[in-house]
Amino acid sequence: MNQDELKQAVALAALETIRPKLERESIIGIGTGSTANCFIDALAQVKQLFDGAVASSEASAERLKSHGIPVYDLNSVNEIQFYIDGADESNERLELIKGGGGALTREKIVAAVADQFICIADESKLVPLLGTFPLPVEVIPMARSYVARELVKLGGDPVYRSGFVTDNGNLILDVHNLQINVATTLEEQINNITGVVTNGLFAVRPANLLLLGTQQGVKEYR
Ligand code: 5RP
Repeated sequence: MNQDELKQAVALAALETIRPKLERESIIGIGTGSTANCFIDALAQVKQLFDGAVASSEASAERLKSHGIPVYDLNSVNEIQFYIDGADESNERLELIKGGGGALTREKIVAAVADQFICIADESKLVPLLGTFPLPVEVIPMARSYVARELVKLGGDPVYRSGFVTDNGNLILDVHNLQINVATTLEEQINNITGVVTNGLFAVRPANLLLLGTQQGVKEYR
């Protein structure tokens, strides 16, 4: 199977995981990216089984709506049963790097609300140590240079994602060469820099289940 087929396989596996638990009033949190898109397309087949979705990006909201799936504002929703999203990297503790698509802040908010975070990814995303993928950090525009200097003090090499503006109107710094030994600590350290909105480490709130598409089938990590 090629990478796209692996993404489709994990999207279908995620659908089969949540399908028996869906209720008429269920709201599902939806991530962003090519794997999340596979899940959205699969979810459309069972749209009569649940109420609607909360999206982590404008792009995902548009895709959900194009399938006729109602999209709710998070503020009008009390509970999200499942959050389904991809990742740029995961370790075996289900700590993630996310934000390659720049949607990390809304992704982190929806993941925080969700009862269960199911991460779906092809096998290339499972790594022994996080940090080969540059860590995205969403930054308030006027703080860009200050935050970059602080990230250098933490040992990283921040690179401004030129020409990219997040759905929240902010900028992204992609931080290369970080030594991520204790992901929860680094996540909090970076979030404590004034001007940082959030960073792409999902370690304080990791995934609950990783469905990994491999050549031997979909593997589950908990
Ligand atoms: C977007 C994300 C995505 O989940 C991540 O970039 C993985 O994307 P893909 O499924 O296309 O490989 O965090 O902000």
